[in-house]
Amino acid sequence: MPQAIISPSVLASDFGQLTAECKRMIKDGADWLHMGMFRGFYHLVSNEIHPPCPDVMDGHFVPNITMGAPILSCVHKSVPGIFMDCHMMVSQPEIWINDVANAGGALYCFHIEAASDPISLIKAIHDRKMKAGVAISPDTPSLAITDEIGHSADMLLVMTVYPGRGGQKFLERCVPKVAELRARFPEKDIEVDGGVGPKTIDVCAQAGSNVIVAGTAIFGADDPKAVIKTLRGTVNT
Ligand code: DX5
Ligand code: ZN
Repeated sequence: MPQAIISPSVLASDFGQLTAECKRMIKDGADWLHMGMFRGFYHLVSNEIHPPCPDVMDGHFVPNITMGAPILSCVHKSVPGIFMDCHMMVSQPEIWINDVANAGGALYCFHIEAASDPISLIKAIHDRKMKAGVAISPDTPSLAITDEIGHSADMLLVMTVYPGRGGQKFLERCVPKVAELRARFPEKDIEVDGGVGPKTIDVCAQAGSNVIVAGTAIFGADDPKAVIKTLRGTVNT
């Protein structure tokens, strides 16, 4: 299994000091920074209204804007060597590829639920010299990632909360999908995102996840460095 990659989610940071927060995380041992981008993500799979996302209506996420390419660009210029792991919780993911690439994005992860032609998207992302990630929401089965998609992508993201905001409760029922994907794609980076921290890392690591996103658990900790170390140690054992 690939080695641990720890990717603190900046949604839990102090946005007023974003670049300083990113630098602090890198100093504390972060490998990547997870940049969550929202823009009315269209949830094609489930029409339920999920309590953690009270703004969900008729299967659409009401626009919840965090940051866009101009902010990514500033962060990229101000934080030398940063690897921006861009989680695109957006409809029409194809329209943001160039902007994110120009802003210095290193990895562009789109949702399979929002993609009409995932293989072409992956190619377009690779053409812009970014790694390509494919995310699945809690109600999306792992088989939505076909063999062709999984082999073409660089990273697979299993959401362990409904995408929409940080600080939600970890959904353990999503973890078997990590194991299913790890069995099919032994060499790929597999990321978990949502409610992940020292209390939930064990099951994620056992299932085969190696890229660990944590927002609240890292930024909200008294000692983020120790949390990053714990997460890494659990994955690498
Ligand atoms: C949720 C985002 C996550 C979020 C994770 O929609 O994709 O990256 O920031 O935050 P925590 O770790 O607090 O659940
Ligand atoms: Zn995310």
